[in-house]
Amino acid sequence: MTAQLNPRGDVAVLVPAAGSGVRLGPGRPKALRLLAGEPLLVHAVRRLAEAPSVHSIVVAAPVAEVTAVGELLAPVAPVTVVPGGAERQSSVAAALAAVPAGPAIVLVHDAARALAPPALVESVAAAVRAGHDAVIPVLPVVDTIKEVDGDEMVLGTVDRAALRVVQTPQGFRREVLTAAHAAAADALTDDAGLVEKQGVPVHCVPGSEQALKVTRPFDLALAEHLLATGR
Ligand code: CTP
Ligand code: MG
Repeated sequence: MTAQLNPRGDVAVLVPAAGSGVRLGPGRPKALRLLAGEPLLVHAVRRLAEAPSVHSIVVAAPVAEVTAVGELLAPVAPVTVVPGGAERQSSVAAALAAVPAGPAIVLVHDAARALAPPALVESVAAAVRAGHDAVIPVLPVVDTIKEVDGDEMVLGTVDRAALRVVQTPQGFRREVLTAAHAAAADALTDDAGLVEKQGVPVHCVPGSEQALKVTRPFDLALAEHLLATGR
C-alpha cells in the first residue's frame, strides 16, 4: 500500500540514488540491487515515508532508470523522481531543485543507507528545527587510526576520541543547503562538507548502526542479516 506523506510536515528528503555501485561489483545500479528481495531504494524510501515529519521525497535516479524508478516507488510512497548527475553532488543538486514550496528543512539521505530507521530521520530533523543550520548523524570511531605516508610507513597515531564516522540523513535549514550548493566549486561526497565551506557550524547527533552504507558485498550480507534478525 502506498504510504501517505504528511502534508503538514516541514521536511523534504532528497535521495541520491544515481550511482552505479562499482564497489559492490557488476550488476544493476546499486540503488536497484536487491536486499531480501527488494531494491535498496525501496527499503530506503519506505523508512523515510514512515517518518512523521516528512512532507516530500525527491529521488535522483540513474538517467536510464527514471521511468523504472518511478514505477518501482509508486506503490511505496508518493515521490518525485529526477535524473541524477555524474557525481553525487550533482544528483543532490538536481533533487534539491525539484523540492516543492513549503518544507523549511531539507534532509539528504543516501539510497545506499537502506536501513536507516525513521527515528533517525526524526532526530536529525528535530535538531534542525531546534535551531541548528546543519546536522549530521555520527558514530564514534572504534578502530585505531594511523596516518601513513606514500610508502605505507606510519607517520603517527591519530587520537580517535576526537573523530566521528559520518552517516546520512544529513539535515539542513533549506536556505543553507541551497546557498551551499549554489556556491559549490569542487565535488564533495558529503553535503555537510559543502556547508562547512560556507562557514556554517555543523552539529552532530547520535547516528545508528542500522544506517550503515551498503558499499561492498560484505555490507549487503550484513544488511541482509540485520533485516533477517529484525534489527
Ligand atoms: N550517487 C548519486 N549520483 C552519483 C553517485 C552517487 O546519486 N553520480 C548516490 C548513490 O546512488 C548512493 C549515494 O550517492 O545512494 C552514496 O554514494 P556511493 O555509496 O558511493 O554509491 P555509488 O556511487 O553508487 O557506489 P560506488 O562509489 O561504489 O560506485
Ligand atoms: Mg560513489
